[in-house]
Amino acid sequence: MGPGPRRSSPGEPSPDLSESEIAVHWGEEAYVAPPAEFVRQANLGDPTAAQRFAPDRFPECFREYADLLRWRTPFASVLDASRPPFYRWYVGGTLNAAENCVDRHLAERGDQAAIVFVPEPESEPTVSVSYAELGRRVGELAAVLRDDLGLRTGDRVTIHLPMVPELPVTMLACARLGLVHSVVFAGFSGDAAGHRSADCGSRLFVTMDGYWRAGRPVDHLANLAPALAAAEQGGHPPERVLVWRRYADRRMSEVPLVEGRDLDARASVARHAGHSVPAVAQPSDAPLFLMYTSGTTGRPKGCQHATGGYLAYVAGTARAVLDLHPGDVYWCLADIGWITGHSYIVYGPLALGATTVVYEGVPAHPDPGRPWRVAERLGVRVFQTSPTAIRQLRRLGPERPRQHDLRFRLLATVGEPIEPEAWRWYHGEVGRGTAVVVDTWWQTETGGILCSTWPAIHPMKPGSCGPGAPGIRPVVLDEEGHEIAPGTGRAGNLCLRAPWPGLMQTIWGDPDRLVRQYFRKYNRDPESRDWRDWPYFAGDAALIAADGYVRILGRVDDVINVAGHRLGTKEIESACLAVPEVAEAAAVPVADELKGKVPDVYVALRPGVTVPPDEVGRRVARAIETAIGKIARPRRVHVVPDMPKTRSGKILRRVLAGLSNGREPGDVTTLANPEVVEQIREQIAGERPER
Ligand code: PRX
Repeated sequence: MGPGPRRSSPGEPSPDLSESEIAVHWGEEAYVAPPAEFVRQANLGDPTAAQRFAPDRFPECFREYADLLRWRTPFASVLDASRPPFYRWYVGGTLNAAENCVDRHLAERGDQAAIVFVPEPESEPTVSVSYAELGRRVGELAAVLRDDLGLRTGDRVTIHLPMVPELPVTMLACARLGLVHSVVFAGFSGDAAGHRSADCGSRLFVTMDGYWRAGRPVDHLANLAPALAAAEQGGHPPERVLVWRRYADRRMSEVPLVEGRDLDARASVARHAGHSVPAVAQPSDAPLFLMYTSGTTGRPKGCQHATGGYLAYVAGTARAVLDLHPGDVYWCLADIGWITGHSYIVYGPLALGATTVVYEGVPAHPDPGRPWRVAERLGVRVFQTSPTAIRQLRRLGPERPRQHDLRFRLLATVGEPIEPEAWRWYHGEVGRGTAVVVDTWWQTETGGILCSTWPAIHPMKPGSCGPGAPGIRPVVLDEEGHEIAPGTGRAGNLCLRAPWPGLMQTIWGDPDRLVRQYFRKYNRDPESRDWRDWPYFAGDAALIAADGYVRILGRVDDVINVAGHRLGTKEIESACLAVPEVAEAAAVPVADELKGKVPDVYVALRPGVTVPPDEVGRRVARAIETAIGKIARPRRVHVVPDMPKTRSGKILRRVLAGLSNGREPGDVTTLANPEVVEQIREQIAGERPER
């Protein structure tokens, strides 16, 4: 199986050996039914749900999600699809996202915890932030942003913060004023943050002195200088920098603040103690935030999400799929710096009045019992994490969940395919066989969950994420655009025929790229004004079983999904080329037991280079860390005599990916230099095993 041979043409998926082709395959698993107790209390449990979200109810079915929100001005129509693939949801409505996530809960649940912050060091106390306190903090910071920094509705703010309460507070303060936030994962380098900041012309850059990760203090402020240098180089340096401090009474970085440029956030907020500013009502299609993600070109793109459609969709899916109830204690063990955290740590749970846990550190610190201790102590009922974390916690402490009084009602997984073995441990040991497991498939671009079982309605099937979420109809298309019928066992490209409220509005500054990357592949008539002519191409290979359950195989393009995090091979390659000795570079995905996939890097050197290969390898790894971050660190850097190339000079990554994954490279007779394949194979065989 596999997506089959592909033709290559500009804008189409890469013809190289892709993730989906090195995916591990498994057979169909048996169904597991949701327990009756879960079904009785579920948000989406009544038998009319399927009818309410039936295809003939599109787009009106999505009114139900919008009704979860408080609108300042009611919307006039659910969808304006007159200009596909640019859609406008809840047209005519106005609302404010922060007001929906904070203010409107104050009367009923002001004293309830909105955020529970769990610092990584276990010696530090957990901090509970009530909705009332959150409202106060968001209001004061909004006053700083508006009155001290002069920011106005529509301005962009780049936020390079770790997993601390100041991150959601800063996001919500932006949302309160209609500022467009762009959060960059704290693990990304200063360079990466600065480029993203420049791309959207951020006026303000928000950072922090330090934080804890894997038992070590991280000097995060050290990333500021490279970030500002990169933003300068990009032509749009931010005017000001807002610096949070992790502790009130000490600093985690020696880097001094720069007078006139940097503002101490704690001190500024203190000056506005007790102040607030009114939440600005925003048109439904005003942008709420940007989230940069890797694509098929070197530059990450800013996916722009709209206020009304996005918020309604994440609230609706958090309610329907994660089964969040107001007041639930919910923990999503992911990072707010990725879309999962935006949608299902911050906006979805807070819109629903749940209590959301923000955990600073890595899952297995100081031992793999940590998550279960936290969950027991806080009474977490709904939990979500990635298959990589599940694999790791299982490997390091398979018996640990049983040592705690865990009462999970629902367990979610997201970000990569989960193999049935890991699924069964999650369900049986973590969930005691009584929690429902949902495997949720979606993307940065899609805003919220698109495929998953409906937890009280569909039985679970390990290894398959399930059918479309309410109102979503996934299809698998072949290269010609014909639908591959469910149950045929053939894989193809996963697509969505109809739009949904969480779909990004555009790519910041590059609307053509939205069309090119996601819609052109299957659009036959660029002039068509009918949304049916604009299937969304997700970039994943998948197959659909006879029961309509989708099984994801992996990316078909130049994206590598490392531990559930997206990296572009082109980004990694351009970082390698920053090393002067390197003439050519190729990054390919390798299957990894723990992380799903990791990058392997091949470099060929310029003629006459005398630096030893090991040293070049170290320089290349460092260059990748500087440009992107530690997360992109390659498994190995192979310094090779030459790249396998076609006669037209194109590097054949398929051959390299085959070698990295211990596979036959296939037919190499058409290469311009077939002998190099054998040389590289021998070289790899002779290399030391990886660290
Ligand atoms: O390949 C799919 C994989 O993650 C990609 C999206 O990555 P990102 O935009 O960073 O968003 C991750 C969190 C939503 C997809 O194209 N992916 C995501 N969820 C799953 C998955 N692969 C298999 N199963 C999933 N449940």
